[in-house]
Amino acid sequence: MDPGEQAEALRIHHGFLADETLDWLDGVLGDRREAPAFVCFHHPPVTLGVPYVDEIRLFGEDRLAAVLGRHPQVVAVLCGHAHTAAATTFAGRPLLVAPGVVSTIRLPGQNGAVADHAAPPGVALHTLDDERRLTTHCRAVTGGSSTSA
Ligand SMILES: [Fe+2]
Repeated sequence: MDPGEQAEALRIHHGFLADETLDWLDGVLGDRREAPAFVCFHHPPVTLGVPYVDEIRLFGEDRLAAVLGRHPQVVAVLCGHAHTAAATTFAGRPLLVAPGVVSTIRLPGQNGAVADHAAPPGVALHTLDDERRLTTHCRAVTGGSSTSA
């Protein structure tokens, strides 16, 4: 990909939250200070150590971190886009990235194309208990029977 194509891909695929969106989030969280909250959006606001997706992550993340800093009831940040189940931190909270549903990105050092389209789709189930303990379970969705006797 030449630099022009790369710049075009970044323009189309990276994430950026508009000032209006951040103002809306700040207002909604300000109206609900007593309830634990998840903040969910598409692009991870940090690098994940996967160059292909790091180039098209959410940019302007300091502006989002500033909003979250005003709302301690935010338990975690949830996102997708990266096609890999991942756990890290952002703005002092857990940042959980959902697995891919149409492909799984290969990590640096793995052989093959950028994405594994044969990998099964995945899902992340987040639970929050009464002590504000967040637990996340990731599962592949294979279409097989999962009933128990
Ligand atoms: Fe995406």
